[in-house]
Amino acid sequence: MNNQPFFLRCIRESCQQEFEITQKLYQCPTCSDLLDIVYNFPKIEGTQIRETFRQRRTSRDPLDLSGVWRYREFLPFAQKDLSNVITLGEGNSPILETPNSANYVGLTHLRVKHLGWNPSGSFKDHGMTVGLSQAKTLGSRVVACASTGNTSSSMAAYCARAGIRAVVFIPEGQIAYGKLAQTLDYGATTIQLEGDFDVAMSLVQELSEETDLYLMNSINPFRLEGQKTVMLELFDQLDWKIPDRIIVPGGNLGNSSSYGKALMELKQLGLIDKIPRITIIQASGADPLYRTLVTSSKELVPVSNAWTLASAIKIGRPISWKKALRALNFTDGWCDVANEQEIADAKAMLGSDGIGCEPASATTIAGLKKLLESSEHGASIDPDEDIIVILTGHQLKDPEYTINYHLDNLYQHAIYENLITEKSGKLISTFANQPIPMAADKEDIVRLLDL
Ligand code: F0G
Repeated sequence: MNNQPFFLRCIRESCQQEFEITQKLYQCPTCSDLLDIVYNFPKIEGTQIRETFRQRRTSRDPLDLSGVWRYREFLPFAQKDLSNVITLGEGNSPILETPNSANYVGLTHLRVKHLGWNPSGSFKDHGMTVGLSQAKTLGSRVVACASTGNTSSSMAAYCARAGIRAVVFIPEGQIAYGKLAQTLDYGATTIQLEGDFDVAMSLVQELSEETDLYLMNSINPFRLEGQKTVMLELFDQLDWKIPDRIIVPGGNLGNSSSYGKALMELKQLGLIDKIPRITIIQASGADPLYRTLVTSSKELVPVSNAWTLASAIKIGRPISWKKALRALNFTDGWCDVANEQEIADAKAMLGSDGIGCEPASATTIAGLKKLLESSEHGASIDPDEDIIVILTGHQLKDPEYTINYHLDNLYQHAIYENLITEKSGKLISTFANQPIPMAADKEDIVRLLDL
């Protein structure tokens, strides 16, 4: 296998079995561990490849315009297979200054890369364009995923574009409305399962073993190859001035894993000397990686009945935990947690920067604030560091959360059915911006606005 340009390899040190890239595998058939896509990279000259990436930005070729396929030297596709690429012009998300959030966390300046500005409104599009292109190359007729809402929206969009049937499994009543709306609009068969994400994930894994379904969760290594290009685009945008730290939310742990892999490959090729430290932030009610790390456990410490209002990351048994740990080890990184109150206020703060995001993305700012205030060894962050925060999902994915926050009506546990029927654990709406009901009286309005 080693003479192939790319192949699959089991990540377990004691196994490392290799497989053809065309095999429809998600886990090692021998030891069931995760698989990596490994490259026999040709010699890549730094100045030249950086210039190639820059030139492609000015091209009109859809492959060059995609913020994923622009970096195709790092993707496992032969030239002949590029005709199967399914792209919606993903990537190309901006890096933005966030002065209010910087001040809130205690920094003089802070930048975010907002992956919510992708076609389906989340970072998943980076992985999905590659996953669906591989599905097309393999001739798959139906693809499936379990999801807390963003994977399913993205997969549904790319399936619609590819003309491939999409089946999504979502935990009933536990995904944000914007995401459900997208999945329906893109025409996916949408199965609302009784049970949480972890139940849906194991079910769809079994189905993909036993039937024709092509699994599109991040256990599929092609997904992570696409998400990996976020690092390439980021460094390209930064003119290869590598930041000190990258902060990313953690759920099923595919994203952080893919960033770690990108950094390993870039280092191996000599394209970067410096390794930014990856900091993963989980919600404190759904913190299996954090628990695993602080107990130095060799096995995942799962969280049964994981809970957070940041529904995208309400996951107790993340699939890619081993790869995420590998990313933390390679980058001397860390995983920490933020609680519901911290996440809610951090989200409002990002909103005040004119940017906004969905709750899961705001864990990053909440965690950063906490870590800057912390003096705990290994966990603290130095205020002089050059930090990039990765925002993963668009503000409009979960408007209900935002509205309830600003109406001072956000509860840690609540069943919302137009009116709240059950509630407990009221959160404080520290930065609430309430709408003002008024009659259409000009004088009253002038008085109110102090004009
Ligand atoms: N942020 C958002 C907005 C997400 O949708 C997710 C995951 C994450 C962060 C965490 O990323 O899983 O790679 O660690 N959403 C998945 C889904 C699980 O089904 O949409 P991760």
